[in-house]
Amino acid sequence: MQDLKKLEKEAEKAIIEAADEAVLRDVEIKFLGRKGTLTSVLRGLKDLSEKKRRELGPKANTLRVKLETSIGEKRYDLRKKELNARLKKEWIDISRPGIKTAQGHLHPLTASLREITSIFHSLGFDAVVGPEIETEWYNFDALNIPSDHPARDLWDTFWLRQDKKSAIKEKLLLRTHTSPVQIRFMGKNQPPLRIIVPGKVFRNDASDATHDIEFYQVEGLMVDKEISVANFKEIIQVFFEKFFSSGGGSAFSVKGGPASGRGGKEKINIRLRPSFFPFTEPSFEIDLKFPGSKRWLEVAGAGMVHPNVFKNSGLNPKHWRGFAFGFGVDRLCMMKYKISDIRLLHSSDPRFLKQF
Ligand code: DAH
Repeated sequence: MQDLKKLEKEAEKAIIEAADEAVLRDVEIKFLGRKGTLTSVLRGLKDLSEKKRRELGPKANTLRVKLETSIGEKRYDLRKKELNARLKKEWIDISRPGIKTAQGHLHPLTASLREITSIFHSLGFDAVVGPEIETEWYNFDALNIPSDHPARDLWDTFWLRQDKKSAIKEKLLLRTHTSPVQIRFMGKNQPPLRIIVPGKVFRNDASDATHDIEFYQVEGLMVDKEISVANFKEIIQVFFEKFFSSGGGSAFSVKGGPASGRGGKEKINIRLRPSFFPFTEPSFEIDLKFPGSKRWLEVAGAGMVHPNVFKNSGLNPKHWRGFAFGFGVDRLCMMKYKISDIRLLHSSDPRFLKQF
C-alpha cells in the first residue's frame, strides 16, 4: 500500500513536469509500459494471498486508470500548446498578392499561321501539307519551270548532297516554295477543290531584315469549272481584311468595321499588278494599302493555274480552271505585329517574344 502511494505521487509529479510529448511518452513507459513499475505491481498480484490481492488489486487498477487519464489529458494539453505556438509563428497573410506563375503563349508566327488557317477554313479551304524535302520534278519541272528556264534563278535552292549509289535517282532539294503541293494534291484529288498549304520553305540566300534562309509560306489553290480572277479577288480581299482587323494591336487594323472589315468606312485596298510566274497565266502580284497609308505593300504572288500545271497533275486543262496564290507568312506576321526584322521571329529571344 505504501509503495502504491509513493508510486502514485512519483508518477503524478513526472506527468505534471513533462515538458513535451517525448518526455511524457517516457513517463508513460516507465509506469505503464510492458516493464513499467505499475505494470509489475499488477503482474505480481497473482502471487499474493487472496486477502492481500483483494485489498491491493482494485487500488492498483484504479491507479492505472487514473494515470492513463492524466497522461491522456497532459498529452492533449501539450499538443494544444504546441499548436498554439505554431499558429503564432506560422501565419498566412491572405491579403498579400499571390505569386504569378509565368504563363507561356503562342509564338507570333504560330498565332499567324493558325489564324490564317482558320480564316481560310471559314471560306471553305482545307489545310494540307507536303514534304519539306522535295524532288526537282515537284518543286520545278511540274510547275512549268524546266531546268534551262531562267525563272529558276528566282529561287536560290539548297540542293541535297546525294549518294550516287542511292536508290533515289531523282534530284532532291529543300523546297523553295509551297507550290509543289499543288501538283501533289491535284495528282490525287479531283476538283472541285479548295486548299491552302501552310509550311516551311528554304532559300539559299543571304539573310537580312526582310529575308531569311527559311520562312513560312501559305499556298492557296481553288479549282472548279468556272473560276475567274474575280473569285480570287473576293477571297483574298476577305482574307486580308479579316487577318488585319483582328488582334495584334496593329496600326493597320481596319477601323470602324466588324471583324470581316465589311461595312466599315475604310477598307484595305487591294491591287493586282501584272507579273510573271511560270505556273500561272496570267500572273499577278498582290499589293495592299492600309487605310491612312500612302504606300502599297507587296504581299503575295498569284495567278490563274497554267494549263501545263493541270497537265502535269493529270487533270484536263480544258475542263478545269483555277487560281493559285502564295504568300510569306513571316511578312504578314511582321506587318500585323509591327516587327521590323524577320530574324527576330526565328531568334527564340525571350526579350522579343515576351512582347506578344
Ligand atoms: N511560289 C511563289 C514563290 O515562292 C509564290 C506564288 C506565286 C505562288 C504565284 C503561287 C502563285 O501559287 O500562283 O515566290
